[in-house]
Amino acid sequence: MHAQYQTATEQLAEAQQALGDSTVFIRSVTELADKREVFASEDIFSRGKIKLVNRGVKLTGQFYERLVAHKLLKPIEQSIEIAGAPESSRIIALVLDEARKIPSLQLFGDGLIEQLGGLLSGVKIPEQLAVKISIMQEERPRLFTHSLLAAVISMVLGIRGKLAPRELQKLVLSSLLHDIGELYIDPKLFDKQRCLSIDERQHVYAHPITGFLVLRECSTLPRGVAEAVLQHHERLDGSGYPYRLSAENISRISRYLAVAEVTSSLIEKHGADKRIGMKFRMNIKKYDPEAVTTIFRLLENCEIDVAQDFDESRLAARLGQLGRLFTEWDALLASCSPAEATEIRSIARRLDGLRMMVLEPGYDQHHLNDLMDIAGEMDPDVCIELTALQDELTWHFGALCRGVERDQRAGVHIPEGIRSGFDAWLSQVREFVGE
Ligand SMILES: [Fe+2]
Ligand SMILES: [Fe+2]
Repeated sequence: MHAQYQTATEQLAEAQQALGDSTVFIRSVTELADKREVFASEDIFSRGKIKLVNRGVKLTGQFYERLVAHKLLKPIEQSIEIAGAPESSRIIALVLDEARKIPSLQLFGDGLIEQLGGLLSGVKIPEQLAVKISIMQEERPRLFTHSLLAAVISMVLGIRGKLAPRELQKLVLSSLLHDIGELYIDPKLFDKQRCLSIDERQHVYAHPITGFLVLRECSTLPRGVAEAVLQHHERLDGSGYPYRLSAENISRISRYLAVAEVTSSLIEKHGADKRIGMKFRMNIKKYDPEAVTTIFRLLENCEIDVAQDFDESRLAARLGQLGRLFTEWDALLASCSPAEATEIRSIARRLDGLRMMVLEPGYDQHHLNDLMDIAGEMDPDVCIELTALQDELTWHFGALCRGVERDQRAGVHIPEGIRSGFDAWLSQVREFVGE
């Protein structure tokens, strides 16, 4: 066994605990109450029928302790009213504003924004979810922008994929709500600077299930939305989570949502440039090919902009190190007895996957260090592609280290005969990824 993720049952337990506890979400509500007017729209009771807040009382941050000292009879969002919480029409206007900020959307023609507006006018966001979106907007602005951008991109994918209007509306709702489960996770865990422990990472991985559990309770939400949210980190080759579903079991809406939300994250990280195309080319078996083609077309005419402080020699060195990690792994594998090779086959499979990520866009894993020479003097196109390749492989080698660590904690060990060779290789990987 070599697991990056917990089992689906463990992730479900994790999600149920986050929801049952709800302290993170209640903190967001009470923090918001210090900035905006939040009222109790009805008496708030604990499960033990103790009245905690009277109807009509204006909440403040000071209510936090009282509310989390008890398990609440109802989820808090059902008992509050937020003054000026955006209604459906306001949220839709925000999505359209976001669409106007993406220059590459113009490639699809001037009428696109109007077309989006027309489709979105039929979308109704249930009230209790509008409260959550409002909390997201105030307390998790980055998550809010990410969700809006994902909604815009998924609409473009849906229109290109000729989805029926009803399906398109489900797609946009799923996109807006896809990370709603994150509202139940400590925001510190999303700090980009923070290096997550294995346990913290598991909290984060549970968010599709948490989101699904929240949305399942909302009876007015169209069928298929909660399921799409549950599946948004599933990948067509079965490498996703929480259920490692394979292509035929992932809904079409989810496939589009997956491509849209990854694109949204990459645009937030790099701006709309060709690195995004590279990321998809390296992971071509994971994503819906039709949706990926649309993304390629979106980015085709993007300006290439290599940063002023771009360090060519560092990139060459990193690629050289990557090449050596592959070569030395092959040597280690060649030294294994058949029994030893069987015991480490899950890691070997993972390395094969990484190798494919290099081969798919047309590179060779053993000659990565030669690439800069081939690229010549700062060919911006190639530099951007190689930087993306390097970034992506760094992330995956980091994930591999964490997977090995998790296995070791679970008592799965590397066979004695190759342990020292394996440890030496792994410490090179750790050094490479900076862990
Ligand atoms: Fe997510
Ligand atoms: Fe997301």
